[in-house]
Amino acid sequence: MSSHEISEAEEKLPEARGAESAVRPVDDPFADPGLPPHEHRKQDIDERAAKRSERTVALLFTVSMVATIAFIAAYVAIPVDRYIYVFPIGHISALNFALGVTLGIALFTIGAGAVHWARTLMSDEEIADERHPIEASPEVKSKVLEEFHTGAKESGFGRRKLARNTLFGALALVPLSGIVLLRDLGPLPGTKLRHTKWARGKRLMNYNTMQPLRPEDISVGSLTFAMPEGMSEDQHDFQTEIAKAALMLVRLQPENIKDKRELDWSHEGIVAFSKICTHVGCPINLYEQQTHHVLCPCHQSTFDLSDGGRVIFGPAGHALPQLRIRANDQGYLEAMGDFPEPVGPAYWERG
Ligand code: FES
Repeated sequence: MSSHEISEAEEKLPEARGAESAVRPVDDPFADPGLPPHEHRKQDIDERAAKRSERTVALLFTVSMVATIAFIAAYVAIPVDRYIYVFPIGHISALNFALGVTLGIALFTIGAGAVHWARTLMSDEEIADERHPIEASPEVKSKVLEEFHTGAKESGFGRRKLARNTLFGALALVPLSGIVLLRDLGPLPGTKLRHTKWARGKRLMNYNTMQPLRPEDISVGSLTFAMPEGMSEDQHDFQTEIAKAALMLVRLQPENIKDKRELDWSHEGIVAFSKICTHVGCPINLYEQQTHHVLCPCHQSTFDLSDGGRVIFGPAGHALPQLRIRANDQGYLEAMGDFPEPVGPAYWERG
């Protein structure tokens, strides 16, 4: 349709509207149909049905309470490292599964109980609410108050004591789920972060082959990673402990070692340093054999392994801790104790 035709149609519109309005009173598609006749629910006319609904509501709230108590019991009783098979998810943490299911039931049954209460026991009178000025007149306010009291009365809050009290019980118990989880904020680490699995006499195990290291296994120019004897990836605390105990070994010419203590703590030029960067704890894994520098890939802190692990570049604020080593009677490398200071981020110096 061209713009000329459109404007012609618009000009004719009032007449057309007039024609339509002439017929609308007969079958107006927008006519207000009014409220349908009110149909009473079974619970409105049969007190026994109302009682049944009330018991259903109370049962749902009671299930919520039981689920919350089960949540707390599961949190206390189920070990963190227990796994179960759940079809079709597979192997999952038994604790997480139990907490999720019980909390889900506790919340769902409160919601289901509230909905059932509203649908079957609270008043379902249809109300036409006319528009009115924003500021309510005193008469309206008093009417609203009156309606509120009527609504409160019709909701059965005062009369349906069983449903009301079990709702209070369920609502009071649900927050406990959050409170018991606060326990995970503790306990305080104490001195755990100051110690590692290294101890006097523990052999140095090659991290890749899990075999005890001999001095001849450490070649000049290479970076070797080690962990303490007795650790295994199957142990539940392996990741926690290896994050503190990871060790790197390099072989230097003894005459190239500038730091006297470093030389004393080495064995035939083999020096052992913590692999954990003293900036924010990334694992160090880049070695420059000409300069004996190691580089942390996270923020490029650079440490000199020929000079006591001193920081020569980057944000790290502390030298790498050195582990004192020697060769035992069988010819294996072993630690002569734990690291002399906490490994990892240097905030220890300030704390
Ligand atoms: S963690 Fe190593 S430089 Fe930042």
